[in-house]
Amino acid sequence: MDKWLENGADWFDTNGNLIHAHGGHMLHQGGYYYWYGENRADENYVSCYRSTDLMNWEFRRNVLTANSQALRTRVRADLSLFDKDKQKKVNIERPKVIYNAKNKKYVMWAHYENGSDYKCAACAIATCDTPDGDFVYHGSFNPFGYMARDCTLYKDDDDTAYFIAASRDNADLHVYRLTEDYMNVECTVHKLWQGEYREAPAVFKHNAKYYMFNSYCTGWAPNQGQYASANSIEGRWSTLTNIGDDTTYKSQPAFFLTLTGTKATSHIYIGDRWGGRDYHASRYIFLPVAFDENGSPVLNFYKKFSINVETGEFLTK
Ligand code: DGJ
Repeated sequence: MDKWLENGADWFDTNGNLIHAHGGHMLHQGGYYYWYGENRADENYVSCYRSTDLMNWEFRRNVLTANSQALRTRVRADLSLFDKDKQKKVNIERPKVIYNAKNKKYVMWAHYENGSDYKCAACAIATCDTPDGDFVYHGSFNPFGYMARDCTLYKDDDDTAYFIAASRDNADLHVYRLTEDYMNVECTVHKLWQGEYREAPAVFKHNAKYYMFNSYCTGWAPNQGQYASANSIEGRWSTLTNIGDDTTYKSQPAFFLTLTGTKATSHIYIGDRWGGRDYHASRYIFLPVAFDENGSPVLNFYKKFSINVETGEFLTK
């Protein structure tokens, strides 16, 4: 492979600008991988990049900004600057996008805070007719009245989708099944790991088993990652087991990308290496998930990687 990326280093898009896609997510659609994530610069909330090879990223647009069209279809529709003089924005964190084949919408869920305190703990929804167009904001709400902070979306093989979010001041991790249009929660299917303070959930499926990685709750500082497994999202989840080292290699889970090629299926762990006090210095970690002789996942650190999307191979050095 002629191109290698270094974990934790500065990565630039094809225009030469730093990639800002923190707490993000990827969608594979129409031959492109779309990478969505937080961009807190200027009036931006969520940026979108695309790539055919997962190595070279073309900036598409800021798909959600303080100026996005907002419809009051949920409780709070406020997305604009709440203090124009100080350029204060609301917070949109950990945006995730999935495609709904029934209504042909790209549906984004994210964590919403009002920007002045951290008490909303709400989920926000936005939609678009294309993967990288201007998303229309539909407001935020607390699912069944619960708090929802660090979050992820998972779309199962039968297109049933789930929203997973830290609740009760992060003490518990809730799993909600979404309605068929992915625009609301239909029911609560789990309140996992009561009082264990799990953040940063990320899910993938391997050999008919579901794995959920997550972190402990230590602000921007990294901590020991853990994972659990289940035979179905709505089934019984195992207790949590440590994965990676005691700082998850100085990262926190953002999402997994599963790459199926002619030679291999790779589950790629994508984590944020947060910049701590300097949020804008946050970078990314891509690592392959391996499985040991008992079939348990293993996460090792590699300094550099390259990806072959045709063969599905994730190469490291
Ligand atoms: C860690 C979370 O995982 C991030 O998404 C963000 O909410 C920070 N905490 C805020 O401290």
